[in-house]
Formats: sequence, structure tokens, C-alpha cells
Amino acid sequence: MRAVWITKAGGPEVLEVRETPDPEPAFGEVRIRVRAAGLNFAEVMARMGLYPDAPRTPCVVGYEVAGVVDAVGEGVTDLATGTRVIALPRFGGHAEAICVPAEQVVPMPQEMSFEDGAALPVNYITAYHMLFRIAAIRPGERVLVHMAAGGVGLAALQLCKTVDRVVTFGTASASKHDVLRTEGCTHPIDYRTKDYAVEVSRLTKGTGVDVVLDALGGRDWRKGYGLLRPTGRLIAFGFANMSVGERRNLLRIITQAISVPRFTPLGMMEKNRAVAGVNVGHLWGEIDMLRENLLTLLQLYREGKIRPTIDRAFPFAEAADAHLRIQERRNIGKVILIP
Ligand SMILES: NC(=O)c1ccc[n+]([C@@H]2O[C@H](COP(=O)([O-])OP(=O)(O)OC[C@H]3O[C@@H](n4cnc5c(N)ncnc54)[C@H](OP(=O)(O)O)[C@@H]3O)[C@@H](O)[C@H]2O)c1
Repeated sequence: MRAVWITKAGGPEVLEVRETPDPEPAFGEVRIRVRAAGLNFAEVMARMGLYPDAPRTPCVVGYEVAGVVDAVGEGVTDLATGTRVIALPRFGGHAEAICVPAEQVVPMPQEMSFEDGAALPVNYITAYHMLFRIAAIRPGERVLVHMAAGGVGLAALQLCKTVDRVVTFGTASASKHDVLRTEGCTHPIDYRTKDYAVEVSRLTKGTGVDVVLDALGGRDWRKGYGLLRPTGRLIAFGFANMSVGERRNLLRIITQAISVPRFTPLGMMEKNRAVAGVNVGHLWGEIDMLRENLLTLLQLYREGKIRPTIDRAFPFAEAADAHLRIQERRNIGKVILIP
């Protein structure tokens, strides 16, 4: 089988398509013939050497795939060959074939394309987990979504629409605002030309927001915390400010690390604010929870309430271009790799 290997930390040129024998499913596993795999920001960071959770290089990453079961290991009773499925392998998904424990695999809705199937898991599970398990958003609340035209951002905007009267503020480049409006974003904000904190304060007449979803990190966490109303929740779920450019930049890493605010229980108590962290990558040990989130999301998909936005699909041979598309912030929604 062919797979996209990260041969070492570096620019997109370190990616290589290599051929290896097909894996055989172990007890409790199924083998999936991958038809589409999601490419995530974290995997671009892994290639740059900025993702501590990534396997040692050379490695194949890929958290999410959609495809067809083509071999079933001993002990698997509920998945048959020929079933169209979505799987959450965590790593190894950027390959033509992958073996995955059966509990990390769910059948796809009949009407779903493989591209939608690969685009949905990570972005929507992350957004769903933050909004409904952690922030527990309520009707009429105000939610600030950073990186709103990215995969997670668009998923969050769509999921906010499933709750009555939720008002959303989305930061993105101006060229992406039409898409934000189509997805129901109440107030798109061009963070490149305006200070989003000033803009949110102006739009809310100084009262702020209930929830901030922030994967920017560093001093943005401080700004977001400052925008919270009483009972407000800041959710930190990424540190994109660490990675600008193609490679690891030590000076930038140090400057960003220094700018991380120190929140204290006492300070949060005084202001009635909460800070939470979410890293879905560290929830693979709680696979029942991820699976439940995914099944709920697939039901919302069947009901037409959510629909992944596919930016572009790239063949494996063009994986470097796919990485660059995310790295250069040109994508609107999900970038997909096709074996
Ligand atoms: N903790 C978790 O479990 C989890 C799970 C999934 C993703 N994440 C994190 O969530 C973030 C978004 O992921 P995604 O897949 O939605 O990304 P994406 O689809 O690649 O979208 C990223 C967009 O964010 C905007 N952006 C603003 N500031 C940026 C910056 N400093 N660096 C890079 N992009 C910036 C860019 O659009 P503009 O043109 O509008 O600036 C960019 O196109 C990433 O940091 C990722 O690591 C965390």
C-alpha cells in the first residue's frame, strides 16, 4: 500500500509517498481501504516538528479516514467486509489501507460521500466537545469563534446554529467573510485590520461574550479572558501562534511561551469566569465518549443540520501542496487527501 510519510521534521519537501505491504488486522481490528483522509492543522505542525504528540519520524500521520472495510480480524462481530465506514485511527490514516480497533470505527450514513466522511470527525468532534460538553452553551449566548473559516471554526458556527438565538462572532481574513455569513456567523471580524477585542466590545456595548473558542494561544488567551462576561468560559484548544512560516522557529516559540497568561482559581472566582482546555488528541483513551460525540454528529448530518465544508481534495502525490494550503492559510474548511 502507498502512504504519505513524514520523513523528518521540516518543510513540505520532507513528505514522501512510500510503498509498504498491506497491514493485517489483529484481534479486534478491521482493515479499511481508505478512500479519503482528513488533513489537520496538527498534522502540518507534526511535519514542522511542532507537535509533541506525533510519532517519531519517519512516520505516517492521519487522525481520520473514510473508506470500506476489506478485512475483519478475529473477535469483530459487528463490522463486515464491504461496509462503508468512518474511522478515528489517530495516526497512520494518510495511507491506502489501515487497521483500526473496531470500537474506533462507525458505519457511514448511506447518503454520505467519502470526502464528507473524512472531513467530519476531528473538526466536528472538537467543536461539539467544546460547545456542548465543556461550555454547555445555552440559548441566547454569545460565542466568539477564532479561526472561524477553518475546519473547526465552520463546524462550531454550524453547531451554534442548532441552539436557539446564539450570537456568533467569527475572526477570519476579510476574503472569507462571505462564507462565514453563509454559515450563519452573526458578526464576522477581520482580525487582520481591526483589533478583534475592541470590535467585540463595540458590538456588545462593552458587555462581552459568554464563550471564547481560542486555538491561537499566548496573549490571545489573555485577550479572550478579558472579553468574558460573568459566567463566561474561555476554551483553549490550540497554539497556532507558535507556527508561522514553514519550519520551527525557536525565538518565536520562546516569545509565545512567555506570553501565556497565568490564570488563578482566586482570580476566576472573583470574576465568575472559567478557563478550560480541550485536546481531543488526548481523548483516544475515552473512545466511548468520542464515539458518542461522533454518532450524535452523524445524526445531525442525517437531519441536514451540519455539512462539512470541503476546501479541496489532493491526491497523495500532491500532499505537499495540501500541507502548504493549510500552512499558508488559504483553505476555507477541510483539506482532504485522496489515495
Ligand atoms: N485541541 C484539539 O483537540 C484540536 C482539534 C482540532 C484542531 N485544533 C486546533 O484548532 C486550530 C484550527 O484547526 P483547523 O483544522 O480548523 O485549521 P484550518 O482549517 O487549517 O484553519 C486555520 C485558519 O485559521 C486562521 N488563522 C488565524 N490565525 C492563525 C494563525 N496564527 N495560524 C494559522 N492560522 C490562523 C487562518 O484563516 P484566516 O485567513 O482567516 O486567518 C487559517 O486558514 C488549530 O490550531 C488546530 O491545531 C485543536
